Amino acid sequence: METKQVFDAVANKYDLMNDIMSLGTHRYWKECLIDWLKPYPGMNIIDVAGGTGDISRRFLKRVSGNGKATICDPNASMLKNGSKNVDKYEDSIIRTCAFAEELPFENESFDAYIVSFGIRNFTDIQKGLEEAMRVLKPGGRFMCLEFSKLENSKLAKLYETYSMVIPKIGKLVVGDEEPYKYLVDTIEKFPSQEKFSTMIRDAGFEKVEYRNIFNGVVAIHSGWKS
Ligand SMILES: C[S@@+](CC[C@H](N)C(=O)[O-])C[C@H]1O[C@@H](n2cnc3c(N)ncnc32)[C@H](O)[C@@H]1O
Repeated sequence: METKQVFDAVANKYDLMNDIMSLGTHRYWKECLIDWLKPYPGMNIIDVAGGTGDISRRFLKRVSGNGKATICDPNASMLKNGSKNVDKYEDSIIRTCAFAEELPFENESFDAYIVSFGIRNFTDIQKGLEEAMRVLKPGGRFMCLEFSKLENSKLAKLYETYSMVIPKIGKLVVGDEEPYKYLVDTIEKFPSQEKFSTMIRDAGFEKVEYRNIFNGVVAIHSGWKS
């Protein structure tokens, strides 16, 4: 299944499925990302693979609308579904339909580049990271929230079993298990925390570090542009 078909298939139930599959914990993971970002008034972020815009809305809430968020995603259905979640900070949001590997923005445009549960879908992750470096201002920050590798092997086994159930839940909720087979597949193929850190450094970022959450079910990576 193509990435576009996957997200077309789930777009109108995307937020609901996120809650069901993660048992609501994706909300906590995203708040951890925003905590670590430390948003400040006037901050200008790009939310790449932003989909329905969950990260942008959380960011704007933290700065009480005193900031700017550009949601960038190649899937028009995801962007359109997100635009239904209009809240009081809608005026601070810009939506752009584009791929992470070819961002339609000037060099040095943003204070922070955020990608949440999106980078494993990129066709070319290294190119995406190089684009992140290009569009960030000097002193800007790259942050990524993504499914990762568990540290504990017993927990990893348990998690593997749960992963096998995810497509069945998808079938029940959105009527199609294929997008969720794709999800599990991309999680398995995504590099480990250490390997991904090396890719971030290779793109030119400095002070690269990561934090595991729930033993590494997800990890948040951070890097700075000098
Ligand atoms: C799982 S959703 C994540 C949405 C949101 N960021 C969140 O955390 O809930 C993944 C998104 O990645 C987008 N995507 C897929 N390929 C992409 C690419 N090459 N560049 C940018 N976004 C991409 C999809 O369209 C989809 O909206």
